[in-house]
Amino acid sequence: MKLKVYGNQKVNGVVPISGAKNSALPLLAASILSVNGLKLTNVPLLADIETTLSLLESLGVAYRVDQESLYANTVELKTGSIYNFTAPYETVKKMRASILVLGPLLTRFGRCRVSLPGGCSIGVRPIDLHLKGLEALGAKIELKDGYVHAVAPKGLKGANFDFPIATVTGTENIMMAAALADGTTVLRNAAREPEIVDLANCLNAMGAKISGQGTSVVMIKGVSSLRNTTEYRVMPDRIEAGTYAIAAGITKGRVDLIGGNFRELLPTFIEKMERIGLEFSDIENGLRAESSGEIAPVDVSSDPYPGFPTDLQAQTTALLCLADGESTVTENIYENRFMHAAELMRMGANITISGDKACVKGVEQLTGAPMMATDLRASFSLILAALAAKGDSVVDRIYHLDRGYCCVKEKLASCGVTVDRIS
Ligand code: EPU
Repeated sequence: MKLKVYGNQKVNGVVPISGAKNSALPLLAASILSVNGLKLTNVPLLADIETTLSLLESLGVAYRVDQESLYANTVELKTGSIYNFTAPYETVKKMRASILVLGPLLTRFGRCRVSLPGGCSIGVRPIDLHLKGLEALGAKIELKDGYVHAVAPKGLKGANFDFPIATVTGTENIMMAAALADGTTVLRNAAREPEIVDLANCLNAMGAKISGQGTSVVMIKGVSSLRNTTEYRVMPDRIEAGTYAIAAGITKGRVDLIGGNFRELLPTFIEKMERIGLEFSDIENGLRAESSGEIAPVDVSSDPYPGFPTDLQAQTTALLCLADGESTVTENIYENRFMHAAELMRMGANITISGDKACVKGVEQLTGAPMMATDLRASFSLILAALAAKGDSVVDRIYHLDRGYCCVKEKLASCGVTVDRIS
């Protein structure tokens, strides 16, 4: 499947922001911890959600999906009859976030087998810290046949663990495991992303005892089971919101992002975008992003929250291709997250990559071209550039896009922009 993107279009309209992929995925995995299941609302319509649901189903989770709105489902999960403790290679190779079942399965059932994810197009992405954290809680782990074999026959025990690098899914995995451990766990240098706060809040509603979420020290007092019947609304997707704000910037248009407090969720991003020339104003239940007509060059470095999100780096690089001057983009999280640069250069962008830095010299105009998406965020960066370009473009491999952006054609249409799926 490909996406045809017509050039020289202006974004002008309203975009309802979906539930966050990177919150919904750990929340779905968290259902495994519960005796009575979990009901999630505002679950985005994404391929990664479908992959996670089929993984959970293969473990023995029963679920029901009801359409809640154009862009959201309600998912009710019943977790009383889990009988299988293996996340197979076939699923994990499709979606690395499958690793999020490791902590929950191990802590509730005392054993599990999860395929090792391996690298992906943006980096090596090891899971050593997930494993070290679980070992600190007393798990016995063996790597065999490409799988993580983990056991804790007498259950996990609370412990102190310092993450040498802050890891988002690593923090989530250990937090979920510690929720049912015997005793108290203190995680230091924990990741502080809002999605971690969302997970901790949901776990607390389910009956867990977690405090400090959103800071670098998270304390989890283990409980024997999570029994509360819980309905929880997935937080809005800050990366989707940021992506559509950039769409307004690159097409010199305006967009109303509806459904969250995006100033709070994207502090550094908004500050940078203001320096580039976007103007933000508060509107009911959201934020308006409007181009001032300028695209000024800036230096941007991706960092863990509350820094500039790596998941908005590719889209920002596309915007800076049309800036009035030279910018530097530094990628601090992944060692190979500049694959979009080569495709943008095929549209006439002037980018030089050197190690973790991209030097982006703004050009007057990009021109439409056939392009190849290499990962989820890169795929939208190409669409953004194509919307502003002279002439039409075709973006291939948009299965990457469908993994993590909900209803792109419909949402772009709701701000006056046309794209077409072609096979
Ligand atoms: N790292 C290790 N060892 C580990 C874990 C991580 O060395 O055991 C390193 C990674 O290689 C990376 C850094 O630590 O260099 C941070 O990676 P992190 O673990 O935080 O990333 P993640 O949890 O695998 C999540 C998001 C990513 C997002 C990153 C960073 C989910 C499901 N995925 O990944 O989202 O880029 O945090 O914010 O939450 C995306 O949505 O496009 C996406 C890639």
